[in-house]
Amino acid sequence: MQTIQSVNEMQSHAIGLRSSGRLIGLVPTMGCLHEGHLSLIDIAKERVDKVIVSIFVNPTQFGANEDFDHYPQALEADLEKCRERGVDIVFNPTVEGMYPQGYSTYVNEEQVSAGLCGLSRPTHFRGVTTVCLKLFNITRPDIVVFGQKDAQQCSVIQKMVTDLNIPAEIVIGETKRGADGLATSSRNRYLTNSQHEEALSLSKALLIGQRMVHEEGVRSVDRVVAEIIHHLSSAHRLRVIYVQVVDRETMEPAREIIPGTQLVCVAVWVDQTRLIDNIKL
Ligand code: PAF
Repeated sequence: MQTIQSVNEMQSHAIGLRSSGRLIGLVPTMGCLHEGHLSLIDIAKERVDKVIVSIFVNPTQFGANEDFDHYPQALEADLEKCRERGVDIVFNPTVEGMYPQGYSTYVNEEQVSAGLCGLSRPTHFRGVTTVCLKLFNITRPDIVVFGQKDAQQCSVIQKMVTDLNIPAEIVIGETKRGADGLATSSRNRYLTNSQHEEALSLSKALLIGQRMVHEEGVRSVDRVVAEIIHHLSSAHRLRVIYVQVVDRETMEPAREIIPGTQLVCVAVWVDQTRLIDNIKL
């Protein structure tokens, strides 16, 4: 496995791979790799000749009062996991390499990114689209694999790829969960045992919503959302940021439930830790 830090070296290497006919798969990450990331690597490995994992804690997607300064990092362990999983290249650029002095170009998607997390994190998706387009230009992927847990991020990136005619296929891997149902996330490391217990309400509440639709035939968005909020409210350290039923592609809020086309998306604070999750309806 190769580890490349230089942006120029990564780009010329990727251009070389492409001109020799190799298919490239990119798994963009901010490191601190968990089973969710590893399952995305497995998807890429099945589809392409060379798998690149980028590890870069991207400052432009964090708001002023967010956790950029203490975002968990574990480079040595990440490299080991990538090696074991058969990754070909880990690209771990520096902040200065990605955003040199005087950097001033950003990418804004203006529809899919507007609601849900876009409301409480107004500059977040601008940072995500900007860094992803840069990573795509540097690593020249044929496919890029993202996780369904970040459903809005997946839709925003898909929209950017369509709108800007980016020649890469976006592939979405299913959300990985622990045996207790908690969706894997690097931010789970922040949780104490008791916070972890409270966080389990997320997946439980989403399953309650899904059952209402598929087993009880409920079609009222308000009823499903109210029931999910009611369940989340029983966890005392948990504050709801949003619970919304949205269209899977556009992230537009739904008026009534149409099974097979929508997601319920949830964001909460568990004390100081912000967690998101979603389930298909
Ligand atoms: O999902 C993430 O880890 C990040 O948002 C991403 C896609 C790597 C961009 O920094």
